[in-house]
Amino acid sequence: MRILFLGDVVGRSGRDAVLARLPELRQRLRVDLAVVNAENASHGFGLAPAMADELFAAGCDVVTLGNHAWDRRELIGHIEREPRIVRPLNFPPGTPGQGSVLVTLVDGRKALVANLMGRLFMDPLDDPFRAATELLSRHRLGVTVSAIVMDFHAEATSEKLAFGHHLDGRVSLVVGTHTHTPTADHRILSGGTAFQSDAGMCGDYDSVIGMGKEPAVARFVRKMPGERLAPAEGEATLCGLFVETDDRTGLARAVAPLRLGGLLAQTIPDF
Ligand SMILES: [Fe+2]
Ligand SMILES: [Fe+2]
Repeated sequence: MRILFLGDVVGRSGRDAVLARLPELRQRLRVDLAVVNAENASHGFGLAPAMADELFAAGCDVVTLGNHAWDRRELIGHIEREPRIVRPLNFPPGTPGQGSVLVTLVDGRKALVANLMGRLFMDPLDDPFRAATELLSRHRLGVTVSAIVMDFHAEATSEKLAFGHHLDGRVSLVVGTHTHTPTADHRILSGGTAFQSDAGMCGDYDSVIGMGKEPAVARFVRKMPGERLAPAEGEATLCGLFVETDDRTGLARAVAPLRLGGLLAQTIPDF
């Protein structure tokens, strides 16, 4: 299965880039499953239901979230009706929506996509390691599903690596989100799981993690309430990861980063 994952979409610049490029990327890379983290799509904070619809129309199969899941409150009701939008699995029991979704591709293959949140330097939540293990007790890679994708939304690289190794051999891909900066450690772990600490954001990198520079810098320089943060509006770099898995095992055969448009060094998978 050929899986494209795009990191946190930030604001209009990020949305425009994904909507403009995803259809051509799906064709060019012969993508079977496209997953997009969109927790910052709505002016940097949350995801409006109409924006989720636009992402689906552009060829996104599953949208994942994170700590900004409920910044747009309309999503709280909407997520109950839209299983393709997935919030962190380790939110408290009774939270609206689901932490994972089982999708069936046009050719009948099945893929499981889950979103989990780390706990280091983040809100206190249930144990994501235990939540992932519990989820995997109901799905067997290469047996009941052809691929399993886990978006691990976390701040600390140590926790992300531990999470990757914990699930190595049991899922197709563990990809980090939330830091909005792509890491160069994309690889296949020893057990066959593709991994990257952070996919980076789809947003304008002439910014502080997607937000306009001046107010964001001022927050560090002056101990005064500053101007409201708003997304930077220059051309976005689309950042993500592309993985090809073996359908018999569900494990990764190849992995490569994607960085397209905007300021960052460009790279596009060539397999
Ligand atoms: Fe984010
Ligand atoms: Fe986040």
